[in-house]
Amino acid sequence: MTANKNMNKTALITGASGGLGLDFARLAAADGYNLVLVARSGDKLNGIAEELGREYGITAQVCAADLSKPAEVDKVVEFVSGAGLQIDCLVNNAGFGDTGHFADRPWAVQQQMINLNILALSRLTHAFVGEMKQRGRGFILNIASTAAFQPGPNFTVYSATKAFVLSFTEALREELKGTGVRCTCSCPGVTDTGFHERAATNGMRITRMSMMKSETVALEAWQAMKKGKQTIIHGLMNRVMSFSLRFTPRSAVPPMVASFMK
Ligand SMILES: NC(=O)c1ccc[n+]([C@@H]2O[C@H](COP(=O)([O-])OP(=O)(O)OC[C@H]3O[C@@H](n4cnc5c(N)ncnc54)[C@H](OP(=O)(O)O)[C@@H]3O)[C@@H](O)[C@H]2O)c1
Repeated sequence: MTANKNMNKTALITGASGGLGLDFARLAAADGYNLVLVARSGDKLNGIAEELGREYGITAQVCAADLSKPAEVDKVVEFVSGAGLQIDCLVNNAGFGDTGHFADRPWAVQQQMINLNILALSRLTHAFVGEMKQRGRGFILNIASTAAFQPGPNFTVYSATKAFVLSFTEALREELKGTGVRCTCSCPGVTDTGFHERAATNGMRITRMSMMKSETVALEAWQAMKKGKQTIIHGLMNRVMSFSLRFTPRSAVPPMVASFMK
Protein backbone atom coordinates (compact mmCIF):
# COMPACT_ATOMS: atom_id res chain seq x y z
CA MET A 1 0.00 0.00 0.00
CA THR A 2 1.32 3.48 -0.87
CA ALA A 3 1.77 5.85 2.06
CA ASN A 4 -0.48 8.90 1.91
CA LYS A 5 1.98 11.81 1.95
CA ASN A 6 -0.83 14.24 2.72
CA MET A 7 -2.17 12.27 5.70
CA ASN A 8 -3.05 14.72 8.49
CA LYS A 9 -2.73 17.65 6.10
CA THR A 10 -5.69 19.93 5.48
CA ALA A 11 -6.82 21.78 2.38
CA LEU A 12 -9.27 24.66 2.71
CA ILE A 13 -11.28 25.24 -0.44
CA THR A 14 -13.61 28.19 -0.94
CA GLY A 15 -16.54 27.91 -3.31
CA ALA A 16 -16.52 24.13 -2.87
CA SER A 17 -20.27 23.65 -3.32
CA GLY A 18 -20.09 23.48 -7.13
CA GLY A 19 -18.17 24.23 -10.31
CA LEU A 20 -14.38 24.39 -10.11
CA GLY A 21 -14.37 24.38 -6.30
CA LEU A 22 -16.10 21.00 -6.15
CA ASP A 23 -13.52 19.62 -8.58
CA PHE A 24 -10.71 21.03 -6.43
CA ALA A 25 -12.28 19.39 -3.36
CA ARG A 26 -12.35 16.06 -5.16
CA LEU A 27 -8.73 16.41 -6.33
CA ALA A 28 -7.55 17.37 -2.84
CA ALA A 29 -9.44 14.43 -1.30
CA ALA A 30 -7.98 12.06 -3.91
CA ASP A 31 -4.52 13.32 -2.88
CA GLY A 32 -5.31 12.43 0.74
CA TYR A 33 -5.94 15.88 2.17
CA ASN A 34 -8.53 16.36 4.88
CA LEU A 35 -10.85 19.16 3.86
CA VAL A 36 -12.44 22.34 5.10
CA LEU A 37 -15.16 23.19 2.60
CA VAL A 38 -16.46 26.75 2.44
CA ALA A 39 -19.39 28.28 0.54
CA ARG A 40 -22.80 29.71 1.42
CA SER A 41 -24.78 26.51 0.72
CA GLY A 42 -24.21 24.50 3.88
CA ASP A 43 -26.57 21.70 2.82
CA LYS A 44 -24.73 21.10 -0.42
CA LEU A 45 -21.38 21.19 1.38
CA ASN A 46 -22.57 18.65 3.97
CA GLY A 47 -23.55 16.23 1.19
CA ILE A 48 -20.18 16.75 -0.56
CA ALA A 49 -18.26 16.30 2.71
CA GLU A 50 -20.09 13.07 3.42
CA GLU A 51 -19.52 11.74 -0.11
CA LEU A 52 -15.82 12.64 -0.31
CA GLY A 53 -15.16 11.39 3.21
CA ARG A 54 -16.69 8.03 2.34
CA GLU A 55 -15.06 7.77 -1.09
CA TYR A 56 -11.53 8.81 -0.13
CA GLY A 57 -11.33 7.98 3.59
CA ILE A 58 -10.54 11.56 4.55
CA THR A 59 -12.15 13.90 7.07
CA ALA A 60 -14.14 16.72 5.53
CA GLN A 61 -15.50 19.57 7.62
CA VAL A 62 -17.94 22.22 6.51
CA CYS A 63 -17.89 25.92 7.31
CA ALA A 64 -20.86 27.62 5.66
CA ALA A 65 -20.09 31.30 5.21
CA ASP A 66 -20.93 34.20 2.95
CA LEU A 67 -17.42 35.39 2.08
CA SER A 68 -18.72 38.66 0.64
CA LYS A 69 -19.28 39.64 4.30
CA PRO A 70 -15.94 40.39 6.02
CA ALA A 71 -17.28 39.22 9.41
CA GLU A 72 -18.07 35.81 7.93
CA VAL A 73 -14.55 35.55 6.50
CA ASP A 74 -13.27 36.08 10.05
CA LYS A 75 -15.68 33.33 11.11
CA VAL A 76 -13.89 30.92 8.75
CA VAL A 77 -10.51 31.84 10.26
CA GLU A 78 -11.96 31.29 13.76
CA PHE A 79 -13.49 27.98 12.67
CA VAL A 80 -10.06 26.73 11.58
CA SER A 81 -8.30 27.79 14.77
CA GLY A 82 -11.22 26.59 16.94
CA ALA A 83 -11.01 23.14 15.32
CA GLY A 84 -7.25 23.09 16.01
CA LEU A 85 -6.46 22.77 12.32
CA GLN A 86 -3.51 23.99 10.33
CA ILE A 87 -4.06 24.77 6.66
CA ASP A 88 -1.48 23.16 4.39
CA CYS A 89 -3.21 23.99 1.14
CA LEU A 90 -5.44 27.00 0.54
CA VAL A 91 -7.54 27.20 -2.60
CA ASN A 92 -9.05 30.66 -2.99
CA ASN A 93 -11.62 29.73 -5.61
CA ALA A 94 -14.95 31.38 -4.66
CA GLY A 95 -15.79 34.26 -6.93
CA PHE A 96 -18.51 35.64 -9.13
CA GLY A 97 -18.97 38.05 -12.01
CA ASP A 98 -21.59 40.54 -13.11
CA THR A 99 -22.15 41.90 -16.60
CA GLY A 100 -23.51 45.23 -17.74
CA HIS A 101 -22.30 48.79 -17.69
CA PHE A 102 -20.86 49.78 -14.33
CA ALA A 103 -23.03 52.91 -14.11
CA ASP A 104 -26.19 50.85 -14.55
CA ARG A 105 -25.47 47.97 -12.19
CA PRO A 106 -26.41 48.00 -8.49
CA TRP A 107 -23.60 49.10 -6.18
CA ALA A 108 -24.42 46.34 -3.68
CA VAL A 109 -23.51 43.69 -6.26
CA GLN A 110 -20.21 45.40 -7.14
CA GLN A 111 -19.34 45.65 -3.46
CA GLN A 112 -20.11 41.98 -2.85
CA MET A 113 -17.91 41.09 -5.83
CA ILE A 114 -14.98 43.17 -4.57
CA ASN A 115 -15.44 41.75 -1.07
CA LEU A 116 -15.52 38.16 -2.30
CA ASN A 117 -13.02 38.24 -5.17
CA ILE A 118 -10.45 40.50 -3.49
CA LEU A 119 -11.03 41.00 0.22
CA ALA A 120 -11.86 37.42 1.24
CA LEU A 121 -9.01 36.02 -0.88
CA SER A 122 -6.48 38.43 0.66
CA ARG A 123 -7.76 37.94 4.21
CA LEU A 124 -7.70 34.13 4.03
CA THR A 125 -4.25 34.17 2.46
CA HIS A 126 -3.00 36.48 5.20
CA ALA A 127 -4.56 34.31 7.90
CA PHE A 128 -2.74 31.14 6.79
CA VAL A 129 0.43 32.14 4.92
CA GLY A 130 2.38 33.12 8.06
CA GLU A 131 2.01 29.66 9.61
CA MET A 132 2.85 28.05 6.27
CA LYS A 133 6.08 30.08 6.21
CA GLN A 134 6.93 29.01 9.75
CA ARG A 135 6.40 25.37 8.83
CA GLY A 136 8.45 25.84 5.65
CA ARG A 137 5.78 24.34 3.40
CA GLY A 138 2.34 24.93 1.99
CA PHE A 139 0.38 25.57 -1.18
CA ILE A 140 -1.75 28.54 -2.15
CA LEU A 141 -3.81 28.31 -5.32
CA ASN A 142 -5.64 31.49 -6.30
CA ILE A 143 -8.20 31.45 -9.08
CA ALA A 144 -8.09 34.52 -11.29
CA SER A 145 -9.27 34.47 -14.91
CA THR A 146 -8.14 35.36 -18.41
CA ALA A 147 -10.14 38.52 -17.63
CA ALA A 148 -7.14 39.47 -15.46
CA PHE A 149 -5.01 40.33 -18.49
CA GLN A 150 -7.05 43.19 -19.94
CA PRO A 151 -9.74 45.71 -19.00
CA GLY A 152 -13.22 44.25 -19.56
CA PRO A 153 -15.93 46.66 -20.64
CA ASN A 154 -19.31 45.14 -19.63
CA PHE A 155 -17.37 43.13 -17.04
CA THR A 156 -15.59 46.12 -15.55
CA VAL A 157 -15.36 45.35 -11.86
CA TYR A 158 -14.99 41.59 -12.36
CA SER A 159 -12.00 42.02 -14.70
CA ALA A 160 -10.41 44.49 -12.31
CA THR A 161 -10.85 42.10 -9.35
CA LYS A 162 -9.16 39.34 -11.34
CA ALA A 163 -6.29 41.67 -12.33
CA PHE A 164 -5.84 42.14 -8.57
CA VAL A 165 -5.76 38.37 -7.99
CA LEU A 166 -3.12 37.87 -10.69
CA SER A 167 -0.92 40.75 -9.52
CA PHE A 168 -1.31 39.84 -5.84
CA THR A 169 -0.48 36.17 -6.40
CA GLU A 170 2.56 36.77 -8.59
CA ALA A 171 3.97 39.34 -6.15
CA LEU A 172 3.29 37.15 -3.12
CA ARG A 173 4.97 34.23 -4.85
CA GLU A 174 8.13 36.30 -5.23
CA GLU A 175 8.04 37.23 -1.52
CA LEU A 176 7.67 33.55 -0.64
CA LYS A 177 10.65 32.36 -2.69
CA GLY A 178 12.88 30.09 -0.64
CA THR A 179 10.32 29.64 2.16
CA GLY A 180 8.92 26.33 0.90
CA VAL A 181 5.47 27.88 0.39
CA ARG A 182 4.28 27.64 -3.22
CA CYS A 183 1.85 30.11 -4.65
CA THR A 184 0.14 29.63 -8.02
CA CYS A 185 -2.36 31.65 -10.03
CA SER A 186 -4.86 29.84 -12.24
CA CYS A 187 -6.40 31.81 -15.12
CA PRO A 188 -9.33 29.95 -16.66
CA GLY A 189 -11.11 31.20 -19.74
CA VAL A 190 -14.76 30.38 -20.27
CA THR A 191 -15.46 27.22 -18.29
CA ASP A 192 -18.66 25.21 -18.05
CA THR A 193 -19.90 25.93 -14.50
CA GLY A 194 -22.73 27.77 -12.76
CA PHE A 195 -20.68 30.97 -13.09
CA HIS A 196 -22.37 32.05 -16.33
CA GLU A 197 -25.89 31.90 -15.00
CA ARG A 198 -25.03 34.21 -12.11
CA ALA A 199 -22.87 36.52 -14.26
CA ALA A 200 -25.43 36.51 -17.10
CA THR A 201 -22.71 35.79 -19.65
CA ASN A 202 -24.64 32.97 -21.35
CA GLY A 203 -25.26 33.94 -24.96
CA MET A 204 -22.35 36.39 -25.14
CA ARG A 205 -19.96 36.07 -28.09
CA ILE A 206 -17.08 35.09 -25.79
CA THR A 207 -19.15 32.34 -24.11
CA ARG A 208 -20.29 30.92 -27.44
CA MET A 209 -16.73 30.81 -28.81
CA SER A 210 -15.13 28.37 -26.40
CA MET A 211 -16.05 26.48 -23.26
CA MET A 212 -13.66 24.27 -21.31
CA LYS A 213 -14.74 21.47 -19.00
CA SER A 214 -14.53 22.31 -15.32
CA GLU A 215 -12.76 18.99 -14.51
CA THR A 216 -10.04 19.72 -17.10
CA VAL A 217 -9.38 23.24 -15.81
CA ALA A 218 -9.32 22.12 -12.17
CA LEU A 219 -6.95 19.24 -12.87
CA GLU A 220 -4.54 21.48 -14.81
CA ALA A 221 -4.60 24.08 -12.04
CA TRP A 222 -4.10 21.45 -9.33
CA GLN A 223 -1.15 19.92 -11.17
CA ALA A 224 0.37 23.38 -11.79
CA MET A 225 0.05 24.10 -8.06
CA LYS A 226 1.77 20.84 -7.12
CA LYS A 227 4.60 21.58 -9.57
CA GLY A 228 4.97 25.05 -8.05
CA LYS A 229 4.19 26.90 -11.28
CA GLN A 230 3.66 30.65 -11.13
CA THR A 231 0.69 31.13 -13.45
CA ILE A 232 -1.34 28.88 -15.67
CA ILE A 233 -3.63 30.05 -18.46
CA HIS A 234 -5.95 27.19 -19.38
CA GLY A 235 -6.49 26.24 -23.03
CA LEU A 236 -4.44 27.04 -26.13
CA MET A 237 -6.88 29.65 -27.47
CA ASN A 238 -6.89 31.46 -24.13
CA ARG A 239 -3.08 31.41 -24.01
CA VAL A 240 -2.85 32.79 -27.55
CA MET A 241 -5.41 35.52 -26.86
CA SER A 242 -3.84 36.60 -23.56
CA PHE A 243 -0.38 36.62 -25.13
CA SER A 244 -1.34 38.51 -28.28
CA LEU A 245 -3.01 41.28 -26.28
CA ARG A 246 0.43 42.17 -24.91
CA PHE A 247 1.41 43.37 -28.38
CA THR A 248 -1.82 45.31 -29.03
CA PRO A 249 -1.80 49.06 -28.35
CA ARG A 250 -3.51 49.71 -24.99
CA SER A 251 -6.07 52.03 -26.56
CA ALA A 252 -7.18 49.27 -28.97
CA VAL A 253 -7.80 46.68 -26.25
CA PRO A 254 -11.02 47.94 -24.55
CA PRO A 255 -13.07 48.21 -27.79
CA MET A 256 -11.78 44.80 -28.88
CA VAL A 257 -12.80 43.20 -25.58
CA ALA A 258 -16.16 45.02 -25.64
CA SER A 259 -16.96 43.36 -28.98
CA PHE A 260 -16.56 39.91 -27.36
CA MET A 261 -18.60 40.85 -24.31
CA LYS A 262 -21.87 41.36 -26.25
N1 LIG B 1 -16.60 29.54 -15.09
C1 LIG B 1 -15.84 30.37 -15.78
O1 LIG B 1 -16.02 30.60 -16.99
C2 LIG B 1 -14.69 31.06 -15.07
C3 LIG B 1 -13.72 31.69 -15.87
C4 LIG B 1 -12.66 32.32 -15.24
C5 LIG B 1 -12.56 32.33 -13.88
N2 LIG B 1 -13.52 31.73 -13.12
C6 LIG B 1 -13.38 31.80 -11.66
O2 LIG B 1 -13.42 30.49 -11.13
C7 LIG B 1 -13.85 30.55 -9.77
C8 LIG B 1 -14.89 29.48 -9.53
O3 LIG B 1 -16.05 29.80 -10.26
P1 LIG B 1 -16.96 28.71 -10.98
O4 LIG B 1 -16.80 28.91 -12.43
O5 LIG B 1 -16.72 27.36 -10.40
O6 LIG B 1 -18.39 29.29 -10.58
P2 LIG B 1 -19.64 28.64 -9.82
O7 LIG B 1 -19.98 27.33 -10.45
O8 LIG B 1 -20.66 29.73 -9.81
O9 LIG B 1 -19.11 28.36 -8.37
C9 LIG B 1 -18.82 29.43 -7.49
C10 LIG B 1 -18.59 28.89 -6.10
O10 LIG B 1 -18.35 30.01 -5.24
C11 LIG B 1 -19.29 29.98 -4.16
N3 LIG B 1 -19.66 31.32 -3.77
C12 LIG B 1 -20.28 32.25 -4.53
N4 LIG B 1 -20.53 33.35 -3.80
C13 LIG B 1 -20.04 33.11 -2.57
C14 LIG B 1 -20.01 33.85 -1.35
N5 LIG B 1 -20.52 35.09 -1.28
N6 LIG B 1 -19.45 33.30 -0.26
C15 LIG B 1 -18.96 32.04 -0.32
N7 LIG B 1 -18.95 31.29 -1.43
C16 LIG B 1 -19.50 31.82 -2.54
C17 LIG B 1 -20.47 29.19 -4.70
O11 LIG B 1 -21.18 28.54 -3.67
P3 LIG B 1 -22.51 29.10 -2.94
O12 LIG B 1 -23.41 29.59 -4.02
O13 LIG B 1 -22.99 27.89 -2.23
O14 LIG B 1 -22.04 30.16 -2.02
C18 LIG B 1 -19.78 28.14 -5.55
O15 LIG B 1 -19.33 27.09 -4.74
C19 LIG B 1 -14.32 31.98 -9.54
O16 LIG B 1 -13.35 32.71 -8.84
C20 LIG B 1 -14.49 32.53 -10.95
O17 LIG B 1 -14.32 33.93 -10.99
C21 LIG B 1 -14.57 31.08 -13.69
